Amino acid sequence: MNTGNISRRAWLKGAGASLVTAAALQGQTTPPPAQQIPEGQTSTHMLEPQQPVGEPPTAAATREQRMQWWHAAKFGMFIHWGAYSQHARHEWAMENEAIPIDEYVQFAKQFKPRVNAPRDFARLAKKAGQKYMVMTTKHHEGFCLWDTKLTNYCAPKQGPGRDLVREYVDAVRAEGLRVGFYYSLMDWHHPDGAKCATDEAARRRFVDYTHGLIRELLTDYGKIDVLWYDVAWPLDAAGWESEKMNDMVFQLQPEIIVNNRNHLQGDFSTPEQHITAEKGGRAWESCMTLNDSWGYQTADNNWKSSKTVVRNLIQCARDGGNYLLNIGPRGDGSIPEESVRILTEVGNWMSKNGDTIYKSDLCEPRRSAYASFTRTGNTLFVHVHFWPGGDVNICGLQTKVTSARLYATNEKVDFKQDPYQLKIYNLPQQAPDQSVTTIAVECDSEPKQDNNFVRKEKPRDGV
Ligand code: GLC
Repeated sequence: MNTGNISRRAWLKGAGASLVTAAALQGQTTPPPAQQIPEGQTSTHMLEPQQPVGEPPTAAATREQRMQWWHAAKFGMFIHWGAYSQHARHEWAMENEAIPIDEYVQFAKQFKPRVNAPRDFARLAKKAGQKYMVMTTKHHEGFCLWDTKLTNYCAPKQGPGRDLVREYVDAVRAEGLRVGFYYSLMDWHHPDGAKCATDEAARRRFVDYTHGLIRELLTDYGKIDVLWYDVAWPLDAAGWESEKMNDMVFQLQPEIIVNNRNHLQGDFSTPEQHITAEKGGRAWESCMTLNDSWGYQTADNNWKSSKTVVRNLIQCARDGGNYLLNIGPRGDGSIPEESVRILTEVGNWMSKNGDTIYKSDLCEPRRSAYASFTRTGNTLFVHVHFWPGGDVNICGLQTKVTSARLYATNEKVDFKQDPYQLKIYNLPQQAPDQSVTTIAVECDSEPKQDNNFVRKEKPRDGV
């Protein structure tokens, strides 16, 4: 075990520095413990949404232009793939199992995925209705999946023997999808990865290394659509030189969009493992695992159902966000069969109902115990996930309904409406569609629902 490794461990145990400023690089503060690092870490360098530093030069595309495809895409595939996939015990194993670097690097040597495995990732994404992909080019373990000139700890020089980022980029483009790169700033392998917090010379080296790696990624692979930073421990924005980092990124890729995990606001927020809309119209993307692990973990069988995934997707679309759903391929490049099954089922639903997601506007109605909603213009989509039987009832709709139909088949359905209730009736006892049946309800204006609705009637005949 080398000294870099020991000091890194010490840091993670609480002896090291956390969010230090460049000026305070010699100081000692306490880092967040492993896995409690707050998502999208914020710093005192939070910027105003209108004028973030690290924005593209004014001559380049505006944020609105750059974000247009992404807002329309709604659904993306996250891929966690690296040496940790070979170990098959979750991508945090190196820290959580305190594996010495000398031992851990064996996984990078044993990691020998079959040629062009990313084609399967991209085909599955396409089939699922996902419009963009974001793959880990370097996770916290520090192993680079591309042909970097800056370290030998990279795919061409270790087990894979070739550039996996190249295969990925080609595969994504072959399916006509948008290309995203995940990049972890935190690095458990690099000797300066923790030391950079207390040693200015180490910080200088490590920041040059980091900016250099990002420069390679955004220079050698053509147009890249998303840069997805992750965990900015142990430096703050000043320490990482995040503004300079983003300036470089936008200079190399004027149309790219970046997230908020390098301590700057970037273009969108990244709620993790939960769906929470951002306030004030700021763009957001909820990222989520399909089971409980991002990287492949053999024994994790806690899979979400395709119904849960569809419901999550509906919830994101309703509130104006995107859904980035993860797969964790194995070290040999195969995708866990459950992930394939779930995403195929989601794709079947999307092939019939996709436009209720892709074309959705912000939607106010949300009250029901068996349905959730999206909206396009004056059309309200009632997505029934627990089919109640012959009638579907909605309370407190403030808008006049002009017609209703089963969305997948276009079949008209009966409805009646009074000031309290919209009743859609004469429906089949069994759900017409799996796993969620969508009813399109046309309204004469934007559908609104009184979410505090109470049926305030006088009791009839004293009952
Ligand atoms: C957290 C985890 C990391 C994962 C990421 C995805 O930051 O540390 O393992 O890649 O979430 O958002």
